Amino acid sequence: MKIALVGYMASGKSSVGQVLSQKLDHGFIDLDNAIEENVGCSISKIFHQKGELFFRKKESEVLISILREKPSFVLSTGGGTPCYGNNMETMLESADQVFYLRLSIPVLVKRLRTEKEKRPLIQSIAEEDLQEFVRKHLFERSPFYFKADHDIFCDGKTVNEIVQDIQAKLL
Ligand code: S3P
Repeated sequence: MKIALVGYMASGKSSVGQVLSQKLDHGFIDLDNAIEENVGCSISKIFHQKGELFFRKKESEVLISILREKPSFVLSTGGGTPCYGNNMETMLESADQVFYLRLSIPVLVKRLRTEKEKRPLIQSIAEEDLQEFVRKHLFERSPFYFKADHDIFCDGKTVNEIVQDIQAKLL
């Protein structure tokens, strides 16, 4: 089975994806890691040295090759993946199920405060502006996330509970 997880930055796509892949006995793929391997440097470096446009192009290319070439997987995408080009349509066509891991703005902001450094899009945003940035950004991105086959609300849930919610939808 081909499963893709989408959602805002810090929504737990990688942690949930890893546990889900073990439970389903599928391979786990983190799209950001696959891009880093393809380009040969970190996401932060790609943004700073080559720019966001280059990153988005690579993101689509690597996404398409994974969807085409791998027979089964749990794929965790980047927060922006479904929002650019035809990425979301491609995922909906090529994956068996796409899950949106949805969290409330306060929970996302709390997590992002401690994880800013590895995320080029929020690195330069001042502490006091982060909530407003996430509110606007999530508002723009939500229509893409909501195209997913399933919407999993994750506030207050452990990784295992989220995995159970996903597995219940796969039955
Ligand atoms: C991005 C999210 C990041 C990474 C890149 C861009 C975004 O992934 O792909 O920094 O546009 O939201 P995470 O969602 O894993 O942080």
